[in-house]
Amino acid sequence: MYVAGIDIGSTSGEALILEGERIVGWSIVDTGYSSRRAAEEALEIALQRAGVAREQLQRIVATGYGRISVDFADQQVTEISCYARGAHFLYPQVQTVIDIGGQDSKVVAVGAGGKPLDFAMNDKCAAGTGRFLEVIARILQLELAELGDWALRARRAAEISSTCTVFAESEVVTLVAEGVTREEIVAGICRSIARRVAAMAARVGVEPPVMFAGGVAHNRGVVRALEEALGHTLIVPAEPQIVGALGAALIARDGMDKETR
Ligand SMILES: Nc1ncnc2c1ncn2[C@@H]1O[C@H](COP(=O)(O)OP(=O)(O)O)[C@@H](O)[C@H]1O
Ligand SMILES: [Mg+2]
Repeated sequence: MYVAGIDIGSTSGEALILEGERIVGWSIVDTGYSSRRAAEEALEIALQRAGVAREQLQRIVATGYGRISVDFADQQVTEISCYARGAHFLYPQVQTVIDIGGQDSKVVAVGAGGKPLDFAMNDKCAAGTGRFLEVIARILQLELAELGDWALRARRAAEISSTCTVFAESEVVTLVAEGVTREEIVAGICRSIARRVAAMAARVGVEPPVMFAGGVAHNRGVVRALEEALGHTLIVPAEPQIVGALGAALIARDGMDKETR
């Protein structure tokens, strides 16, 4: 029996196919301007990789901010439930999940069976999200994927006092003009994101083990800064962007169990 989970975020969309408890295919695509088209594309690629035909899918669950546009899904579920469920499946002992995506960040307390107990979310402000890193990468003319290494090479982190992306942008331009190194600036940006997310996490309460998911978990500079800010080591899954789609697929499978019972 095959089921699919689709997670459409503001920046990336993922699809994941499960056969029983086994992940048989998954994909990551850019969301672009159309959530619906991104969902179709992600699903097609994941199906192709799994060698599964669309008709073989018994159930599709969509999540993420663009989930409402995925009108071909059988059910739409919040990211909070999906992240908790996906993280629990990968590491059953996980008690807290932190997700930093392209334009939002969230912290979920995970209970028994991967049920969310509590959460906090920021989707109003770019600071504390991947968008912040994208803006800074552009100013410093660095590739997004190499930002983490730049941060790790810094001997100290530049102090970034602005909490708003727009002001931080001009602050960074000033720091560059003053001769502060790109390493120190990137390290300062990572620390600024980490502090913001840690403050949000404190509202939920951070119980270890803690998983760090979402695209920003690829950035080792943010991983280290967040570990310092939280005082806990973080579990980063090999593919941090597919945790939401995995959770959605697992919830799809639960739905099947209910229908066949
Ligand atoms: N390979 C990578 N290296 C470093 N950062 C990355 C990488 N891939 C994605 N990111 C970061 O992840 C962010 C997108 O996160 P993602 O979880 O894919 O977004 P969404 O919320 O749309 O699902 C980007 O803004 C970027 O900062
Ligand atoms: Mg995504």
